Amino acid sequence: MKILAFESTCDETAVAVVEDGRHVLSDQIFSQAKLHAVYGGVVPEIASRCHVESISLLTERALEEAGIRRADLDAVAVSYAPGLIGAVLVGVNFAKAVAATLKLPLIPVHHIRGHIAANYLAFPELEPPFVCLAISGGNTLIADVRSYTDMHIMGATRDDAAGECFDKTARVLGLPYPGGKPIDELSKGGDDTKYHFPVAAVEGRPYDMSFSGLKTAVINLAHHAEQTGEELDRASLAASFTKAVSDSLVPRTMQAVRACGYTKLAVAGGVAANSRIREDFRRAAEEAGLSLYIPPLRLCGDNGAMIGAQAYYEYLAGVRAGSDLNAYASMDLSGGYGR
Ligand code: KG4
Repeated sequence: MKILAFESTCDETAVAVVEDGRHVLSDQIFSQAKLHAVYGGVVPEIASRCHVESISLLTERALEEAGIRRADLDAVAVSYAPGLIGAVLVGVNFAKAVAATLKLPLIPVHHIRGHIAANYLAFPELEPPFVCLAISGGNTLIADVRSYTDMHIMGATRDDAAGECFDKTARVLGLPYPGGKPIDELSKGGDDTKYHFPVAAVEGRPYDMSFSGLKTAVINLAHHAEQTGEELDRASLAASFTKAVSDSLVPRTMQAVRACGYTKLAVAGGVAANSRIREDFRRAAEEAGLSLYIPPLRLCGDNGAMIGAQAYYEYLAGVRAGSDLNAYASMDLSGGYGR
């Protein structure tokens, strides 16, 4: 079954063709990051306009790259929540038009379910149940993935997402947007014990996280250094910050896997590209005897292929949208269209 999938929830316009949920026939991504970099973050209005400008061409390219005609498609899928509402609307409206014109079923996909499904593309043997930590620019949560479509949030951030915290810290360090990758590179020459940052816990909610205190601690440290004329060791600050994020994510996720009694652990989302976090998970999973799944870097960030992968399983579960499908800025991962 060949699915044409659209992703436009933030600053990547992406269109892909995926076969049977596991095989990527094409994967076109246009990142707007450079357009937003001058503003230090995503400007929603610019993101929406840019999606409008690029989505048609990317669709043509995705079909061409897949080597198929429109008539070969079996369904259309779109990421319809959560995200920047204007941006999500572009993908939803475009997908609705394509589905109506080609008389194909339309499959709505929750964006974070898509991130989780990126692992199905990278690891053909992976099947639920497993625990997945989804860490992206707008979301941070630990999900109990009971089946391909039955998921339950065990815990989530109470405030900022991990990626947002990377981006804000990068700004304090004078690094470009998006800041995750530059911090990753800078931290490699640093001493992660030089600065001490808080690792928050939420009483009574062992799997919940909080990153706003960490963000404030970085800002305060930078301001204090500026006022006292102290020179910051930027590499060590980046390394110490990344350690604090990793210490907040890795032990909690391991605890969640133990609580579920699973043998498999997956990580997904843009922040899953972080080399320190990947290494900390690798070590923790090895010690615990768990199978660890983290997609290659290209599948960590937003892409259309992950939406096509999850769409296949949503389709098998009977999920279909009508022409009244709407876009949503926020939505619980465990709920969703028709549930
Ligand atoms: O999943 P994603 O592409 O978009 C959302 O769905 O939000 O994630 C983007 C986030 C940004 O905050 C970016 O700074 C972060 O992923 N990121 C990283 C790395 N690469 C991207 N964070 C830490 N280390 C990285 N290597």
